[in-house]
Amino acid sequence: MVVVSSLFLALCSLSLLAAHPLVVRDAVSVSTPLGTAQGVVGVDGATRFAVRYANSTRWAPSAIVTEWALPNDADDPAALPLQCPQLNADASTYSEDCLSMILYVPDNISVGSDAPTLVWIHGGSFDSGSATFPGLDGSNLGIATDSIVVVIQYRLGALGFLPPDGSTNLGVQDTINALTFLSQVVPSFGGDASRITLAGQSAGAGMIRALLAGPSASSLFKSAIMQSDPTDYGFTSLATQALFQSTFNDLVSCSPSDIACHTALTIDTILDAQSNVENNALSLDPSAALGEPLHPVLDGTLITSPLDSTAPFPTIDKPLLLTNVRNESVPTIYGVALPGPDAFPPVVFELSSDAFLGVDRTAVLLASPFYETDPDGDSRVQLERLGTDYIWRCPTWTFGRNWVAAGGGSVHVGMYTIGATYPGNEEIPECLFDGAVCHQDDIMILFGTTSTPTPAQSALTIEIQARYKAFLATNDPNVDGLDNWEPAMSSDVHAMQFGAPGEVPVLACDPAFWGAAVQYDYQFFGL
Ligand SMILES: *[C@@H]1O[C@H](CO)[C@@H](O)[C@H](O)[C@H]1NC(C)=O
Ligand SMILES: *[C@@H]1O[C@H](CO)[C@@H](O)[C@H](O)[C@H]1NC(C)=O
Ligand SMILES: *[C@@H]1O[C@H](CO)[C@@H](O)[C@H](O)[C@H]1NC(C)=O
Repeated sequence: MVVVSSLFLALCSLSLLAAHPLVVRDAVSVSTPLGTAQGVVGVDGATRFAVRYANSTRWAPSAIVTEWALPNDADDPAALPLQCPQLNADASTYSEDCLSMILYVPDNISVGSDAPTLVWIHGGSFDSGSATFPGLDGSNLGIATDSIVVVIQYRLGALGFLPPDGSTNLGVQDTINALTFLSQVVPSFGGDASRITLAGQSAGAGMIRALLAGPSASSLFKSAIMQSDPTDYGFTSLATQALFQSTFNDLVSCSPSDIACHTALTIDTILDAQSNVENNALSLDPSAALGEPLHPVLDGTLITSPLDSTAPFPTIDKPLLLTNVRNESVPTIYGVALPGPDAFPPVVFELSSDAFLGVDRTAVLLASPFYETDPDGDSRVQLERLGTDYIWRCPTWTFGRNWVAAGGGSVHVGMYTIGATYPGNEEIPECLFDGAVCHQDDIMILFGTTSTPTPAQSALTIEIQARYKAFLATNDPNVDGLDNWEPAMSSDVHAMQFGAPGEVPVLACDPAFWGAAVQYDYQFFGL
């Protein structure tokens, strides 16, 4: 049987910190309302500025800085920020002083250019990742899209999402502070503060969904790009959050209001207790999100709408791009749940589906034409398709349909059929199969940071960057000379294949199937 408790690891990147490829030439400075920004000119045609955007005390809301400062009190403008504390990372690579961002400014953008800005929100299940993870150097992307690219950090795991006093969404508030800070300083670098587009992958896309689900951040960006959002999970309920919090408080033996006790905890103690809560999340509460137990909470103040089909959708006038990769769940199915070279017989499909979706939803799946197993084949093929449809692809399409039906901005939906293997995924043989595109394999294609790209990868990078450039400038990702990307309608999302002609076959993402005949988790658990 499937090992449920370790499955959430599959969404986390296991990658090591990248050796940063930027070759430093000269220090450069820019005058901002908060003081002088120091950066370093790269040989690749963009200047990099790292900055601390907010101060934070453990488990208190962060406060936007009032003076420009390099991250972590560095005095070398080439210094990169330490990441936020996380499991599977050496303690020397992280600090609680992690609310920093990195700006990549193309050489021909400067004060007065009024260029658009793309803010990248990294993924990693809300408990890992950083602005310095592999492939996230924004120089190439900024130059290709004629924009400033900014990669931000926010507090993760228990430090960002389990404040013991019962408050919620610290990591979301950090992100809002990052955007507020950026709107104050980006004009000094040549950015137009009214033309900020958010883009994020996985939990980063989930963060964007959280920002769309309440009024607080609405004035801080004009459009958004959500790549591989595990939309199925919805937001955490207040009841689940309270349960996780009290479990965590018991594990660290501090009472909710004992700040001295919280301050005295070591990071290791906090990460151990966090890991315990995450590993036991599903047995504590069946509605917990398998892939990311700690995530934004529908608190009624910061996040005011579930932004899913359980409630009327608000009308939000922001254009969206929504993308998936073809094989989102290969790392989960083949890398974590059912690894190994041997095929799994058809009964494993039913047992696994029972374990995760329950017998009722499984019965509907088995009676459908979408996941028919082959008696002589490997049932992981159907489980992979199920995982991709259930957690990512179909709920993302449903989100797009709802957005359009509510009269929001335009939506364009796409799917990568070509990727670039993200560090960590090369350990999963099935991610290397011809035509497989695993979760995270879109990142280096977008950033143009694939180390030795094939002609097909280079061509896709050029196409995606051209579409993003157009979307940043005009809200429309269509470009002369490229295939027409039809906007989503409230019934047919017209999902475009990236790297192959034509639209993505609808199959189980038919509105009558996923979200209707079979409920998403946010429907099933009434989140
Ligand atoms: C907060 O950030 C500012 C820079 O704006 C710095 O001067 C100050 O020392 C920081 N405060 C704390 C408490 O870290
Ligand atoms: C920067 O250079 C690129 C390539 O030459 C050009 O397309 C773009 O318009 C320039 N941007 C600005 C703000 O001058
Ligand atoms: C990737 O997805 C395609 C389309 O669903 C499927 O045919 C293929 O088997 C998948 N690859 C792997 C390795 O699961």
